[in-house]
Amino acid sequence: MQAVQGSDQDSVMAEVAATPIVATDAERGSEIIVTADQSLLNAIERFEPSSVAVGCRNGGCGLCRVQLLAGSVRLGKMSRRFVSIEMERERFALACRVYPQTNITYRLSPIEPRIPGNAY
Ligand code: FES
Repeated sequence: MQAVQGSDQDSVMAEVAATPIVATDAERGSEIIVTADQSLLNAIERFEPSSVAVGCRNGGCGLCRVQLLAGSVRLGKMSRRFVSIEMERERFALACRVYPQTNITYRLSPIEPRIPGNAY
């Protein structure tokens, strides 16, 4: 492997940062582009705003839950109330806390919205 130095390294890093990441909704068959450090929820809202429920945008309400079917992601902090450790092992996550690192495939798996008298 050849070492990359100086401005060559900067251009390689810029190229990596500019490489689009594709997120595919397995059920709809649609593809969206996720940019570096953008959450999956933010990208879905940008390209298909009507397809996803949005609440807190902070990993706390569970409305944006997805199941990851393929690809690598970085996860932010999520409420265990909506994604248990067991669910996380099954690759459930909250889209507002999912940062794709490679092309991914996901399916939406939202919780039911809170309604009075419906304990969850
Ligand atoms: S919008 Fe509330 S957990 Fe993602």
